[in-house]
Formats: sequence, C-alpha cells, structure tokens
Amino acid sequence: MSAVIENKSKKVTTHGFMEMKQRGEKISMLTSYDYSLARIVDGAGIDAILVGDSASNVMAGWDTTLPITLDQMIYHGASVARAVKRALVVVDLPFGTYQGNSDEALRSAIRVMKETTADAIKIEGGEEILDSVRRILSAGIPVMGHLGLTPQAIHKFGTYAVRAQEEAEAQKLLNDVHLLEDAGCFSIVLEKIPAKLAAKAASETRIPIIGIGAGNAVDGQVLVLHDMLGITNEFSPRFLRRYHHLYEEISGAVGNYIRDVKSSDFPNEKEQY
Ligand code: KIV
Repeated sequence: MSAVIENKSKKVTTHGFMEMKQRGEKISMLTSYDYSLARIVDGAGIDAILVGDSASNVMAGWDTTLPITLDQMIYHGASVARAVKRALVVVDLPFGTYQGNSDEALRSAIRVMKETTADAIKIEGGEEILDSVRRILSAGIPVMGHLGLTPQAIHKFGTYAVRAQEEAEAQKLLNDVHLLEDAGCFSIVLEKIPAKLAAKAASETRIPIIGIGAGNAVDGQVLVLHDMLGITNEFSPRFLRRYHHLYEEISGAVGNYIRDVKSSDFPNEKEQY
C-alpha cells in the first residue's frame, strides 16, 4: 500500500479533495453536529466533516431528515466550523430549501456560507435539481452532490432499501453523476447502491466519489459519527462498522454516578471546598 498521505496539518480544501483522488489517497469523512465532538474528530485527522441533516434523526430524534430547518442546520454548522482547524466542512442544505426554486437554493446556500463559515454545501438529487446546483456554483459556493438513497426523498421511495439495483435506475444514477460533475460539483456522495455501480461511477469521474454503503472501490467513505461510535444502538445496516459501543459505556458511567450520589459516596472530601 503506497498511497501517499499528505501533510496532516494543512487545511483541506475542495481543490485538495480532488488532488487526493488524483494521487489515490482515500478520503475519510464523518458527520459532526456540535463543537465538542467536531474538535475531537478534527484533531484525530479526519479529512472532511459533514454537518449532515441526519442531525434531524441523531440530535433531534425525528424519524426522518425532513423536519430539520435551515436555521437549525446553520446552528449546527457554525458550532462545527468553530471547532475545526483542518478538515473540510460541508453542510447539508435541508429539505425544502433548494428543490424546485434556484433563487431560494442560492439564498439558502449563501446563508449557510455566511453564517457558518463552512467550506461547502451538499444537496441531494441529480437532473431535477441541476438549476439549483448551477446557481449555487455560479456564486462561487462549492457543491457536493448526493445520489442513490437520498433520505430527503424517503416518502417517494417508501423504504430505506438499496437503490439503483434495476438497470433503468442505475443508468439514471450514472447519468446524474456525469451531470453533476459537468456542472462543477467538487465531489458526490453515493449512498446505499450496489458496489459495482459505485465503482463504475468512481472510475468514470475525475471528482471524488464518497461512498456510504457503496463498497470499497470508491474514493472515500463517510459514516454518521454517532452510528460508528455506537451511541445510536438500534440502527445496524450491513454497511455500518461500529468502532465503539458508547451507548453501553455512557449508560454504565451514568449508572455509576447515580450509585455514588445515592450512597453519598460522591462528592468526597477532596471533591469539595
Ligand atoms: O446527513 C447525513 O449524515 C448524510 C450522510 C449519510 C451521507 O447525508
């Protein structure tokens, strides 16, 4: 394995993102929604942080990503951007802030960039949102695309099952990948699609393809931080690798605290004034 890993103290830019693909360095990306965890994730050397609208599920407890608002995404984005020194920070435009109206899309993206100081925005969809993509790009705002399973369209899909297994949907996805690349997107997330299709997309594009449930033959991977740390313990899709079991660890620590308070063990003499 001889992939060169670049200087880990240099700020990651969208340009640097594309250079990583050119030199064959895989891109690591995780979500974060708050200052404290973003500080840890950035300090550990992650290449990119996604302030995903999965905050709607993870932080707010909604069933879907649809309820989160632009103001709430801006709050999360600004909290993360304040913590980050090196990683590229990408903020999701939430449902209803860019579809079908490129003026509104541009206004939403400008608000995110001004009020969070993030580096880029991400939006879901292909041909049907191309006007919005072009409009945002024309203002000099870098755009990351998102195709395959696009959770903001869950009510259209009806299920979170693997997408693009049929030929017609696979062809549309590849077509959308090329449209987004040609429009000027700097990268595209492909979520929950067959690994072979994702590999084809990555081999046919110059921009990095970041996978989540899209196999290994892409240019990088993204996971939801709370899932890979095991803070959420009810969500176990096949693509998720858990690196920790924090639900149990936090629950155990809270249990110990309750025990110590109830038994008057906490605080002891050294823990008081
Ligand atoms: O919102 C999010 O966390 C995402 C990732 C699943 C890619 O879009």
